[in-house]
Amino acid sequence: MAMIPKETIEEIRARCNIVEVVGAYLPELRRRGSTYKCNCPFHKEKTPSFTVNDGRQVFHCFGCGVGGDVFRFVMDYEKVDFVTAVGVLAERVGVEIVYEGGQPEKSGNKDVLYKLHTDAAAFYHRMLLDGTEGAEARRYLEERDLPIDVIKDFQIGYAPQGWEQLLSRAVKKGYTAEQLEAAGLVVPSDRNGQKSHYDRFRNRIMFPICDQMGRVIGFSGRIMNKAEKGAKYVNSPETLLFKKNRVLFAFDKARKPIVESRQAIVVEGQIDAIRCHQAGLNNVVASQGTALTENHARMIKRYADEVILVLDADAAGLKAALASSEIFMANELSVRVVTLPEKEDPDSLIKNSGKEVLIELIREAPGALDFLIDSFQRSEDVGTEAGRMRVVQAVLNFISTCPSAARRDPMIHAAADRLNISPMALSQDLRRVKQQQQQRPARKQVEEEAPRPIVPKKTYPRQETALLELLVHYYPEVHPLVHDFLPPQHLTDPTCKQLVEILMLDPPETLTEGFHEFDEATQKIISQIQVEESRTIDAETLPTDLAQRYILLFWKRALEQEQAVLKQRTDLSNEERFVETTRIKHDLHALSKGWKDAQPMLEARLHKDVDF
Ligand code: CTP
Ligand code: MN
Repeated sequence: MAMIPKETIEEIRARCNIVEVVGAYLPELRRRGSTYKCNCPFHKEKTPSFTVNDGRQVFHCFGCGVGGDVFRFVMDYEKVDFVTAVGVLAERVGVEIVYEGGQPEKSGNKDVLYKLHTDAAAFYHRMLLDGTEGAEARRYLEERDLPIDVIKDFQIGYAPQGWEQLLSRAVKKGYTAEQLEAAGLVVPSDRNGQKSHYDRFRNRIMFPICDQMGRVIGFSGRIMNKAEKGAKYVNSPETLLFKKNRVLFAFDKARKPIVESRQAIVVEGQIDAIRCHQAGLNNVVASQGTALTENHARMIKRYADEVILVLDADAAGLKAALASSEIFMANELSVRVVTLPEKEDPDSLIKNSGKEVLIELIREAPGALDFLIDSFQRSEDVGTEAGRMRVVQAVLNFISTCPSAARRDPMIHAAADRLNISPMALSQDLRRVKQQQQQRPARKQVEEEAPRPIVPKKTYPRQETALLELLVHYYPEVHPLVHDFLPPQHLTDPTCKQLVEILMLDPPETLTEGFHEFDEATQKIISQIQVEESRTIDAETLPTDLAQRYILLFWKRALEQEQAVLKQRTDLSNEERFVETTRIKHDLHALSKGWKDAQPMLEARLHKDVDF
């Protein structure tokens, strides 16, 4: 099995600042006092309980209990194994990994697929920029007004003519046809019972599609010549990396501007998105012609409060806009809708009329509800009773998808105003619609794809984690007390007990180094006790006082336990039982009086243990 040397792991850990790594995935991470916080990416929440500690290089979510070091974060976020996570971070900080016992298993491994996509994108890009084969493609892009800096910025490429251009080069580089197939870059074929492969993308302009981190995970290839047969766009199929319903084109570039403006603009085509970015509208992503899903909404919701849908003016565009609005609204995003002039898309509009026109359309875009009423009023005869009722019904259906009463209320008033009905009547009808919806079988839940902790949050005995917190945060003061007066077996939770044992031998730094060697449950608790300075202590209490209190408490628990056991024992004479019972009672009494009275008793008990 491939192993990464310990020193390499520690070197990578030392070079990766967890705040920077997490911040690269979650740009909304903000300093709050001595730690960094944001909404947890592993469960749904409204107030941030996801915490990262710079000093201790751990993260922990007080909401769902996930936590660990920088490697654990990458494992959980990317859903990869430890070795892959180390690889991702090694690449980030430029550490080369020399595996012990050979390279890791390659086929089907995400790592290889990433590398393959990176190499393929570079190959297509090179084919576009250099040489004769790319000449027509260069001409095409020039005609479309996509200059060289944009081509470079989006790493646009050209897949040359021919069946094995990419295949043969990739195989020469050491990739297998199966890996290329798993990446969706080649298509298997069966000629006369002979399995072979050919390039999926041929003679097309290539748009690399990246994930949130900017890694290429798929492609969209556009035909250049209308006369040529074949679809206008050919896209990567679903692969281990490429999941259509959780990808938005240009999201990697738009993420920061989206966070800064709290607004995301969604267009349809990748060329539209590219054109917008070129014009300085940087919070733009493209849906790439697919229906927007729950996953897209959640992706955006992490960074934005408002979505602006820019869609074609046709009937299909209208229907899509309404369906998408409901999904976004259900995820508590505000939605506004831009209707473009007929026969224009953002790309052509900017080219023909200038970006100011689009910016103005965005600025003035009506909210989704107004958009809905506008479009119905255009298509329905609201003069007739039936026409009016159809509008009302559409409005009710729309508002009913909004989960927040605080958002529904103004919508009801606005709609009532526009439809000339009393808000009360509309609310009553809304209640009826909601009841009907509840009676219907629930809408099929979209497959839950957000990374989630697999095990439910385990809670540890509060006092035991509190003692661990004291030990970690006030080690010099607390260590001698615990060491001298608390046998670790007095702790009931095995993980807490193990950690106290470790801390008796070594300082808290050992919990950070070699962190990944602990099991997942232990990692969670270590991150919990490390992540905040100490939640256990207030300004008035001395850490040593508090530690003494816990020590007494755990002793009390242990002695009471002993007392209970004593009652069950049949091997003792009455007299022996009496002596023991009296002693425990006496010692329990001493414990109840506080540290001063208890200390000699504890010493006696502990020394007795040692002397025997
Ligand atoms: N699309 C697709 N497959 C097709 C057609 C379209 O995947 N056969 C997706 C592409 O992502 C495309 C988007 O839908 O960018 C919008 O399609 P369309 O409006 O037809 O293309 P444009 O983006 O306007 O491209 P162009 O300007 O080059 O015509
Ligand atoms: Mn277009």
